[in-house]
Amino acid sequence: MSDNISVNDSIDGNITSGDNLSYWVGSLLEPISFEKLTCDIETDVLVIGGGIAGLTTAYSLAKEGRTVILVEDGFIGSGETGRTTAHLTCALSERYADLEKTFDQQTAKLAAQSHTAAIEWIANTVKQNNIDCHFKRVDGYLFVHPTGATETLQDELEATHRAGLLTEMLNNIPAIESEEGYSCLKFPDQAQFHILLYLKGLADAFRQSGGKIFTQTKAENITSTGATANSFNIKANHIVVATNTPVNDWVTMHTKQWPYRTYVIASRIPKGKLPFSLWWDTGDLDSKWISKPYHYVRLEEFNEQYDLLIAGGEDHRTGQADDEGIKEEDRYTKLEEWTRSHFPDIEKIEFKWSGQVMEPVDSLAYLGKNPGDDNIYIITGHSGNGMTYSTLGGMIIKDIITGKENPWIEMYSPSRVTFKSTGDYLHEVGNMVAQYADWLLPEDVKQADELKPGEGAIISSGMKKMAIYRDEANSLHACTAVCPHLGGILQWNADEKTFDCPLHGSRFTTEGKVINGPASSDLAKMMIKEEQTS
Ligand SMILES: Cc1cc2nc3c(=O)[nH]c(=O)nc-3n(C[C@H](O)[C@H](O)[C@H](O)COP(=O)(O)OP(=O)(O)OC[C@H]3O[C@@H](n4cnc5c(N)ncnc54)[C@H](O)[C@@H]3O)c2cc1C
Ligand code: FES
Repeated sequence: MSDNISVNDSIDGNITSGDNLSYWVGSLLEPISFEKLTCDIETDVLVIGGGIAGLTTAYSLAKEGRTVILVEDGFIGSGETGRTTAHLTCALSERYADLEKTFDQQTAKLAAQSHTAAIEWIANTVKQNNIDCHFKRVDGYLFVHPTGATETLQDELEATHRAGLLTEMLNNIPAIESEEGYSCLKFPDQAQFHILLYLKGLADAFRQSGGKIFTQTKAENITSTGATANSFNIKANHIVVATNTPVNDWVTMHTKQWPYRTYVIASRIPKGKLPFSLWWDTGDLDSKWISKPYHYVRLEEFNEQYDLLIAGGEDHRTGQADDEGIKEEDRYTKLEEWTRSHFPDIEKIEFKWSGQVMEPVDSLAYLGKNPGDDNIYIITGHSGNGMTYSTLGGMIIKDIITGKENPWIEMYSPSRVTFKSTGDYLHEVGNMVAQYADWLLPEDVKQADELKPGEGAIISSGMKKMAIYRDEANSLHACTAVCPHLGGILQWNADEKTFDCPLHGSRFTTEGKVINGPASSDLAKMMIKEEQTS
């Protein structure tokens, strides 16, 4: 660990949705927390979720004079927002040339405008509220993955120009010597920040506008009249479910998006070796995953001598890392190899962590009214662009609630139907259905006494599947391995020490507490004796 940075060991890994601490969470002196809800309450707008999506929406509505309360079951930023890499960009995970094919030129243009507006919204919010979050305007560079073709960049250059972006083809890739002689597409005037410093500033600004935040307050029984939390009633006219993946809906939205895990390493690099920029490759076309995992890289200020180079990638469908023969914990090795080959000046790796992104079937996020509801709203399906998509979600939902026109409501509507995504849709649905075959798969270990302290596994006990974990004090914990959402069989994630569902991405701690939806309840406990399995 670093000599110059105080890392907060008091932040429980499970509160940050996994065992590994991201740089953002690790560099905070304390979690961003507020009081718990301790009485019944009424409000105009209830926002559920204290990530970037929930806080942006809450702040936007409070600024319009609405009465808003926000509830968060952990701390502010303890979901995927605290695990991001915080590139703020209109270079979308999906290429603009592909957006034109899936939708049309006008939609691609609106996508470019909307993400550009989201970056501008963040820049203005930082300025208006004097938020010290290392916000910087930087250029971004898109270069070709070895499995891709250079023509892709030319196609993308033309598509981005049609979308109104000021991209430019360069005949080298700034700061990447290993790719000398290769061209790249420059996206000027993108941005980056320290996400949790930003969230802290946004939370303060929201409270100054009259908003209330309750942390360690989990919303349950969500209906069109409100929710319950910590056994108290919250009555509301509008309910915004900003829980990353919706926890209010059992099926509809979960057939439109798929959970992927993605990995990050943050390494020291001497100050001044690299310019502050964003770099992305175009993704591995040979990958078995529909999302075609790509690498994403940026710098962050670290201490007087060093910056941190934060590199991400090596994604896979949640709970299915083994399908490629590369376990979760081994993904960092691959990522390190790639990063060192492209950025040979990096030194010690200071932080490594992983997180989950929701990939929408037609490549655009779902921002707006929940299908079938008039006053419940969702923000989800934000893929690798969740900083700008969540910001846009807040902007759009604020306009819907306050009755203002907004050019992006239709294209991001969670109720939209997109016919051209059928191939990918069937592939991902097939993958989802195939996961039920895990009921028949052999167990990870035969007996609980094969587990060392700190290890977990799925075992069979008669017709039952159990998720077992041996803690550092050598005590055994056992729960059902059947996901309470729709019955998927959980997989042990040795890297983050969680049990992950390969169907829709629900995740649970070693003791069965739910930390990611769509499941809303914990795993049922089971009895297990050492001798029973020996
Ligand atoms: C490794 C990684 C790198 C990424 N890099 C980028 C990037 O560079 N640029 C980019 O644009 N995007 C990136 N993303 C995506 C982006 O970080 C996410 O899409 C975004 O942070 C999601 O924000 P959110 O507010 O919707 O979700 P979250 O941050 O997960 O917030 C949801 C919150 O809801 C809370 N919650 C859940 N259920 C309840 C309940 N019942 N009651 C109360 N609270 C509840 C959770 O505790 C959580 O805090 C990355 C993601 C990952 C994992
Ligand atoms: S998340 Fe849907 S079955 Fe587990």
